[in-house]
Amino acid sequence: MSKTVLFISGSPRANSRTRAVTNVVYRLLRDQRGHAQLIDLHLHELPLFNGDPAQNEYASVQELRESAAQAGGFFIVTPEYHNGISGALKNALDFLSSEHFHNKPVAIAAASGGGKNGINALNNLRLVLRGVSANVLTDQFAADPSQIDEHGTFTDEAGVKSLNALVHDLIANV
Ligand SMILES: Cc1cc2nc3c(=O)[nH]c(=O)nc-3n(C[C@H](O)[C@H](O)[C@H](O)COP(=O)(O)O)c2cc1C
Repeated sequence: MSKTVLFISGSPRANSRTRAVTNVVYRLLRDQRGHAQLIDLHLHELPLFNGDPAQNEYASVQELRESAAQAGGFFIVTPEYHNGISGALKNALDFLSSEHFHNKPVAIAAASGGGKNGINALNNLRLVLRGVSANVLTDQFAADPSQIDEHGTFTDEAGVKSLNALVHDLIANV
């Protein structure tokens, strides 16, 4: 059986544009492959990483690490917070290491409030993922706030096509 892709939705907020983007790519990949896994950092509460081995007892930490270890690839969507990735996403990645990412393909996308459309968050995420030896795909996606409606639905068809191409690219590399 083909390997699972783990999606990480990096916003801690309830009404999140990041999740709107994650929902689209998660559905696209599930339609093409039948299985995928999602960790939404709004729902998946992790302790603040402090290096204490006692944190290994948290079910949320174990689930994150096991899912990442088993994944053949990742799709990570980050919000842009103060020109970088969210603290919640960085904290989640601090629980992981090259043991989970080495040579695995990772597709990345960002959602922002405007400005430079998440490009700083994407660059920041690439840098962090370099730190865990991930194979980040060259293409990426930055969501414009106008592509997401007030109900949190991603509505832009051209954007869905771009996201579909990214999903294809990821699958080809998993
Ligand atoms: C703490 C914080 C910092 C933010 N900084 C930026 C920023 O630097 N640039 C930007 O375009 N949007 C910024 N935003 C807006 C978010 O990018 C926006 O809420 C977007 O919808 C993605 O975040 P979300 O998935 O949590 O909704 C910030 C939002 C928060 C909560």
